[in-house]
Amino acid sequence: MEYVIKKENSNECASSRQNSIRNKVRGILSIDVHLENPLGNKFGLDYFDVIISSLCLEVASESLEDYTRAMRNMCGLLKPGGHLVLVGLCGQSFYQVGDKTFSSLPLRLHQVEDTLEHLGNILLSMRWIKTQESKFSDTKGAFVIVAQRSKKP
Ligand SMILES: C[S@@+](CC[C@H](N)C(=O)[O-])C[C@H]1O[C@@H](n2cnc3c(N)ncnc32)[C@H](O)[C@@H]1O
Repeated sequence: MEYVIKKENSNECASSRQNSIRNKVRGILSIDVHLENPLGNKFGLDYFDVIISSLCLEVASESLEDYTRAMRNMCGLLKPGGHLVLVGLCGQSFYQVGDKTFSSLPLRLHQVEDTLEHLGNILLSMRWIKTQESKFSDTKGAFVIVAQRSKKP
């Protein structure tokens, strides 16, 4: 939290920011991006103005077909014209947390962009972040993409 506040050049203290975020959180829900409605029946499709997805879809997918389906399901939660902020990793086949190793789908950036466009989203921006070599993962780099779901049905 302190890192983020410093990045923002803000004078706010960490505990005040934590409290303000806690007050804004309306719920914590289970999600499975492989379901046609990932949040189940609690929320309909076409519901959210903004979705932020970070480092999830490539971890939840074993193939590009899986990834495309997961992206389609997730984007279905957005209102037409709503925005997706997608943070992901390219070229990553595994990552390690403590003594646990997790698998991941090694994506190329153009596959992510093609998938988004193929599903009718408009790419608004893409930022590429080079990652450092590490024994804990074989990630080649990270991206932050902002896309907008098409307003047309
Ligand atoms: C590398 S962690 C990312 C955590 C966090 N979002 C972040 O950016 O640090 C991968 C996340 O993908 C989630 N995940 C795995 N399979 C999933 C699925 N089928 N549907 C939704 N999320 C899934 C896991 O629960 C885990 O929280």
